[in-house]
Amino acid sequence: MDHPSDPWHEVRRSPLHGHGVFARRPIPKGTYILEYEGVHITQEQADAQEPSNPDDPFHTFFFAISNGMIIDGGNGGNDSRYINHSCEPNCEGHESEDGNRVFIVALRDIAAGEELLYDYALTIDDKITKTLKKQYACLCGTPSCRGTMLALPKPSKKQRKKAKKKKWLKKIIRQAVREEIQDLLRNT
Ligand SMILES: C[S@@+](CC[C@H](N)C(=O)[O-])C[C@H]1O[C@@H](n2cnc3c(N)ncnc32)[C@H](O)[C@@H]1O
Ligand SMILES: [Zn+2]
Repeated sequence: MDHPSDPWHEVRRSPLHGHGVFARRPIPKGTYILEYEGVHITQEQADAQEPSNPDDPFHTFFFAISNGMIIDGGNGGNDSRYINHSCEPNCEGHESEDGNRVFIVALRDIAAGEELLYDYALTIDDKITKTLKKQYACLCGTPSCRGTMLALPKPSKKQRKKAKKKKWLKKIIRQAVREEIQDLLRNT
């Protein structure tokens, strides 16, 4: 039997990546599950750090807060540092009023055993290239996965129009190829 003061979460292996954080019991929407703890460092200090894992150089335990500081979960952090990213998250980080602390909060009711996930929306000063997106590739596999843990700028009207046209062209080409194959099969 769970006690109300028991933690809402537990850490175990995740099918998504390494370790993850999971609901130990049902978590109601709006629950403050745990704090994102760690040493607060500046952007310059973060940039100067060696990768936490040389075999996975883009692995990060950083959580950027709106005052420009970074919470380094890899130094003085707690279980929250194991929360993985999803493009369709069930949690998000809420800042305290003074902007110095971050709490992981349930965005909806979460069932026992579900993995806790928030959208990292990582921001990088460099231009977002295909290579950069790949370095921060997302494996969440949700229908709206944007393929990267980076925050992407909202596409402009022109870009949206271009994407729509590309999708339409792909559909037309697929249809034409299908018809061509059917014709070939009929005539053999
Ligand atoms: C804060 S750690 C999360 C804990 C991590 N699973 C571990 O065992 O150390 C963040 C790192 O986990 C990995 N990660 C988290 N979510 C991911 C996802 N949706 N797709 C791919 N890698 C992910 C990335 O390497 C990311 O830099
Ligand atoms: Zn994703």
